[in-house]
Amino acid sequence: MADQDNHKDEVLSGHIPVLTEPLLEWIQLPTDGIMVDATLGHGGHSKLFGRQLGPEGELLGLDVDQNSIQRAQSIVSDLKCKVTLVRENFEALDTVLKRQGIDKVDFILADLGFCSAQLEDADLGLSFQKPMPLDMRLDKRLTTTAADLVNKLGQTELADVIYKYGEDRASRRIARFIVEQRGQKKIVTTTELATVVCRALKQPSRPGRIHPATRTFQALRIAVNHELDSLQRLLDVAPKWLKPGGFIAVISFHSLEDRLVKNSFRQHKSDRLYEILTKKPITAERKEIQQNPRSRSAKLRIARRL
Ligand SMILES: C[S@@+](CC[C@H](N)C(=O)[O-])C[C@H]1O[C@@H](n2cnc3c(N)ncnc32)[C@H](O)[C@@H]1O
Repeated sequence: MADQDNHKDEVLSGHIPVLTEPLLEWIQLPTDGIMVDATLGHGGHSKLFGRQLGPEGELLGLDVDQNSIQRAQSIVSDLKCKVTLVRENFEALDTVLKRQGIDKVDFILADLGFCSAQLEDADLGLSFQKPMPLDMRLDKRLTTTAADLVNKLGQTELADVIYKYGEDRASRRIARFIVEQRGQKKIVTTTELATVVCRALKQPSRPGRIHPATRTFQALRIAVNHELDSLQRLLDVAPKWLKPGGFIAVISFHSLEDRLVKNSFRQHKSDRLYEILTKKPITAERKEIQQNPRSRSAKLRIARRL
């Protein structure tokens, strides 16, 4: 029955939560527990763990994207526990928990990045598959878009962003092509940018292959949303809010994020704040990857507060 319910929720939301089996193997919540889902998304993980909570438990869900909150609302609406969903960046965890009058929590989960529906959302401009305005702000309250960076940064700064956040060794060449192109006409759509990157790399996009612009798009998204700074702030404050025995689980999708998580857990371990439960990150089994290709690059690390 639980499986059927899960399936119904996934069909409803169009998003399959990743690595649910290992998460459930490692983490059980008391019925009066408090969970912070720092990246609510479609509410898939919230629902999964929210089911463990009784009426005396609480789920606090955060997301920067108002549409994600709306999508998740119906998914978590039949949970027995108290549910509070707020449009906040998880970097503001301190402020949010204080405002909610929460003292300590049993579980903090962050499933980083973006959901499938956000990739399709033309307003967000994350996909190079269709022409979309080159925006990339998950939080529309931010003021700088990807188009601003692409059209206004100096060539060296642009190359640095693509190198630092996209780890693309061809960053200088890509930046040069972008600057040449924008000298003729501003780059305003995702597909225009993707075309310039393909030209710079002398690689066409081929079905079934990783798109040549993937790293450039990742870099711009990270820069626009300050993703690594936000993650670092969350990782820094988490121990302060976890009850002894409480869990933090972070699912990351690229090496820059995973490195921050690994280093933070190690630091907190050496400060005797954490026990690291996953010596190596947990990755998806072949079966999960077949059912949900998004899980292919997911890496899960879990620590327990001492
Ligand atoms: C991969 S999805 C989460 C999916 C979710 N675990 C589920 O099962 O449905 C990531 C979500 O986190 C949100 N997000 C990304 N960075 C954030 C941040 N710094 N603070 C709050 N939400 C963030 C995105 O808007 C997106 O909705």
